[in-house]
Amino acid sequence: MKIDVEYLEFMWPMRHFLITCGNIEGKSNIIAISFCMPVSKEPPLVACAIGKKAYSCKLIESTKEFIINVPPKELKPQIYYCGFHSGSQVDKFKETGLTPQPARKVKAPIIDECVAYMECKVRQEIEAGDKRLFIGEVIEAYADKALVKRERNVKYAKGDFPKKIYGTRFREVQD
Ligand SMILES: Cc1cc2nc3c(=O)[nH]c(=O)nc-3n(C[C@H](O)[C@H](O)[C@H](O)COP(=O)(O)O)c2cc1C
Repeated sequence: MKIDVEYLEFMWPMRHFLITCGNIEGKSNIIAISFCMPVSKEPPLVACAIGKKAYSCKLIESTKEFIINVPPKELKPQIYYCGFHSGSQVDKFKETGLTPQPARKVKAPIIDECVAYMECKVRQEIEAGDKRLFIGEVIEAYADKALVKRERNVKYAKGDFPKKIYGTRFREVQD
């Protein structure tokens, strides 16, 4: 027998990412996202779905650049802070204590406490319900040397959206 379900339950857990956008010398911001996936290997494209009302959506629309920062599990409190507050009202670098560092090619900063980085240029934007889908070309990708050389073991942040954001709370993920 098959019964109707809240379909998203079967798509969790998802990895959590911190996207940085804006300009390190001006206004920059951090948004927590999980709706993020690779879509093409050649050219290297990734897709990120960002709420149309998010401040980050406006920043990425205007700069056409963003960075996917890969956070370790330990940064979950900062991920939640960035997912519950808007850069239109707070400075998330200041409030979380996360450290901005210059990126290689994109004007937004990277987050020093993260372990890997994908600097992206927006190649396509698609209206997708309450989100705007940004397809970005990865123009630079780099990571913590110890992690790449397998001298450092990192557990990544993953799970579901907190109930406050998505209405339904699913199982906690244990790893
Ligand atoms: C774990 C987690 C995952 C999230 N994933 C997404 C996502 O994929 N897309 C999105 O638009 N918002 C997502 N959010 C919500 C945004 O981070 C949130 O709306 C944020 O306050 C927007 O910030 P901004 O206004 O500074 O851009 C997520 C939040 C959390 C805590």
